[in-house]
Amino acid sequence: MKVLMLNGSANTNGTTFTALAEIGKTLEQEGIGYEIFQMGGAPVRDCIGCGQCSEKGCVFAEDKVNEFVAKAKEADGFVFGTPVYYAHPSGRVLSFLDRVFYSSGRSFAFKPGASVAVARRGGTSSSLEVLDKYFGISQMPVAGSTYWNMVYGKKGEEAVLDLEGMQTMRNLARNMAWMLKCFAAGKEKGIALPCAERENRTNFIR
Ligand SMILES: Cc1cc2nc3c(=O)[nH]c(=O)nc-3n(C[C@H](O)[C@H](O)[C@H](O)COP(=O)(O)O)c2cc1C
Repeated sequence: MKVLMLNGSANTNGTTFTALAEIGKTLEQEGIGYEIFQMGGAPVRDCIGCGQCSEKGCVFAEDKVNEFVAKAKEADGFVFGTPVYYAHPSGRVLSFLDRVFYSSGRSFAFKPGASVAVARRGGTSSSLEVLDKYFGISQMPVAGSTYWNMVYGKKGEEAVLDLEGMQTMRNLARNMAWMLKCFAAGKEKGIALPCAERENRTNFIR
C-alpha cells in the first residue's frame, strides 16, 4: 500500500516538505509506502473548463498534472500539502488540483485523503477548508489527527521546532495507515464498494 503526497510549494525542501516527510517517516514505520510528489517551481496552468479531459487526464500536458494522475491511479491514499499564501492555499496547488480532479476525480474515490497547511503565522484553517473540499466531492474518506493538520514555521528547519505540529503529522500518518489497513481487510472480506447514483444533476432547482 502506498500514500501519494503532493508538495504544493515550489520549495522542494521547505516547510511543507518537512511536514510531509514527517508523515512519510511514520507511514513507513506503520508498513505503508509513500512518495512525496514535488510540483517544483515550473509554471502550472489553470483549468480553463475546456471539457477536453480524457482517460489520459488533462489535455494540457506541458506540466506535471498527468504525471500525478498516473501515480494517483496506483496510490491507495493521499496527502495534499500547501504553504499558506495570503490565508489561502498556494495558487499553484489549486491550479494543479483543479485540473487533477476535474479530469480524473474518479481515480480518488474510496481512497482516504488528508490536507496539510503550513504557515509562518496565520491562515492555516482557511487553507485546510479549501483543500478538504476536493475530498468531499470525490467520495474520499478523510483521515484526521489529534489537531487540525497545521504546522508553523517560515523555513523547513523551523517546522521541526513546532513540536505539536510534528506530532499532529505523525498521528495523521498513524490514522491514515490504520484506515488503509481496515479498507484492505474489508476488501479481503468481500465488502463491495458502494455504488453511487449519478442520474440527478440539477444545475439549479427545477
Ligand atoms: C506569497 C506569500 C504569501 C504568504 N502568506 C502567508 C500568510 O498569509 N500567512 C502566513 O502565516 N504565512 C504566509 N507566508 C509564509 C509561508 O506560508 C511560510 O513561509 C511557509 O512555511 C512556506 O512554506 P514552504 O517552505 O513549503 O514554501 C506567505 C509566503 C508567501 C511567499
